[in-house]
Amino acid sequence: MAPLAVVLIFIMGVFAIAILRIEAHIRDQDSDERTAAVAKLFAQKLDKDTNLMIATMRAMMTNRAIEQAFRKRDREALSRQGSFLFASLHDNHRITHLYFTGPDLINLYRFHIPDEFGDEIKRVTTLQAKERQDAAYGLELGAMGTLTLRLVMPWLRDGRVIGYLEIGEEVEHLISEIRESLSVDMLVLVDKRMVSQQQWQRGQALMQREGNWDRFATHVALAQTIDALPAALDDPTLQALLAGRTAEIDDRGRALHLAVVPLEDVAKRHIGDVVVMRDITGLATSFRWSIVGVTAIGLLAAIGVLGVFYLALDRVESDYRRQHDLEHKLLRFNEEYSRILQLEKLSALGTMVGGIAHQLNNPLVGVVNLAQLAEREADNPARTRELLAEIRGAGEDCRTFVKRMLAFSKVSCFESKPTPMAALIDDTVLLFRQTENRHLPVEVKLPDEEVVLTVDPILIRHALFNLLVNAAQATTNDGAVVITLERADDPARGVPGWTLAVSDHGRGMSPEVLDKIFVPFYTTRSDGTGLGLPVVQHVALLHDGQVSASSEPERGTRIAIWLPEVPADLPRTPSSVA
Ligand SMILES: Nc1ncnc2c1ncn2[C@@H]1O[C@H](COP(=O)(O)OP(=O)(O)O)[C@@H](O)[C@H]1O
Ligand SMILES: [Mg+2]
Repeated sequence: MAPLAVVLIFIMGVFAIAILRIEAHIRDQDSDERTAAVAKLFAQKLDKDTNLMIATMRAMMTNRAIEQAFRKRDREALSRQGSFLFASLHDNHRITHLYFTGPDLINLYRFHIPDEFGDEIKRVTTLQAKERQDAAYGLELGAMGTLTLRLVMPWLRDGRVIGYLEIGEEVEHLISEIRESLSVDMLVLVDKRMVSQQQWQRGQALMQREGNWDRFATHVALAQTIDALPAALDDPTLQALLAGRTAEIDDRGRALHLAVVPLEDVAKRHIGDVVVMRDITGLATSFRWSIVGVTAIGLLAAIGVLGVFYLALDRVESDYRRQHDLEHKLLRFNEEYSRILQLEKLSALGTMVGGIAHQLNNPLVGVVNLAQLAEREADNPARTRELLAEIRGAGEDCRTFVKRMLAFSKVSCFESKPTPMAALIDDTVLLFRQTENRHLPVEVKLPDEEVVLTVDPILIRHALFNLLVNAAQATTNDGAVVITLERADDPARGVPGWTLAVSDHGRGMSPEVLDKIFVPFYTTRSDGTGLGLPVVQHVALLHDGQVSASSEPERGTRIAIWLPEVPADLPRTPSSVA
């Protein structure tokens, strides 16, 4: 169970990690796309605003009054004519710069700082516009660390340049618009090598800002859409971002995904980078929940699988235990059975010894008594001879008994040969009739076919004779004794064979007697030897057969010898009955 649980937990872990990776990948991809969208939108906005500026300038250039004032270098008239226009551009389009500059690039009027004029404008946009005699535009980094989108257009009148118009807007305006569209925060950073600290601080003071020059080692913030920079956005993180990697940081409970977009000025110089910050708190939360959900489902599935396995194992285990118990019981039964068998053998031995003692005791008692009598009657030779004759008679009885016993224990030779059973039965009945004087009817029931069995005819005849004698002894009425021969398979082994049975209608036996009839020397008759049926059983066993008996008191008895159709391969050696 434990290894299974470990494997399941391992699989679940791998599964959860795979899902985590996939979701993280999807999220990163999404953030990358957003970052790319920022870059694209930034470029688009620059174009759009530039177009707007161009339109605005064209409109201004067609204004006769402004043109007159500009041509006459009349600053006052220019201020009068253009102030309203600049105010409206400032308010509606966030235009922050408007310059009127002469063809010699000497500034005539700055609408955003009217007091500064007479200086030569040498910015890239202006120089480009002069060189190309066409509109020039792009981002430009001011000396004081301002990033401005500038458009400079030569003012042509009758194919002659009468001066230059310049218009500009702060980059803050652009990034806040992008923020509206894409819901990402941005931080515009510029390389410190591009601005001097002093100028930058002057700019900050002018714009009433409190920028921190030392916030980053290599870059300084020019514009941002958030009030306070995340504390976790430190130098190492920034360097990683600048190296092209993305980062994920925590900002006061919000999860932020960071990436950078490079920033180029109008001269195509890499002046800095825009850090794009995307709030992924919601995504992270739903991601976390989906992990929790997947883990929970996985856990439930694992518990289910483990449960099923547990039940199955439990069943297997209980089956095994039951089987084990059964085997154990069987073993005990076997032990008990062999003990009982041993006891039975001992009790049979007791019966046998008792029988022998009884058989020998009677004549021996006679011998002793007669010998005592003979001692006393020694003077009377006739009487003594008589007594001696009786002693010899008793001794001969003993010898006969011992002989019979020896005959039983040997059942001398065993010679089997194909024997026609009908003839064997007839012979035996004939012999039986000669010894029996009551003329008890004997009926023989044979099968139609001729039955020839490989048996020892002498032994089988002897056994059948014993059965007939027993049947006759038990029959006090004139009920017939019936001999049957019929086909019968050994039910236990399925071996084909024949049953030779003797039935009578005599007095029968009680179950107690029936239990002991095969024990040697067991007899209920005063003149019995108790060896008849043991001999029958011995003969049957010698033929690889068996004997069975059934009986009912006052109804009769049936004793059957079963013999196999084909005898066992090996000829049996004569053996003795224990
Ligand atoms: N056909 C029978 N009917 C009733 N009892 C029988 C029959 N055959 C045997 N018996 C019982 O079995 C006992 C043992 O028989 P057996 O071994 O032939 O010895 P014995 O005939 O010397 O007594 C008999 O004493 C008798 O009680
Ligand atoms: Mg007998």
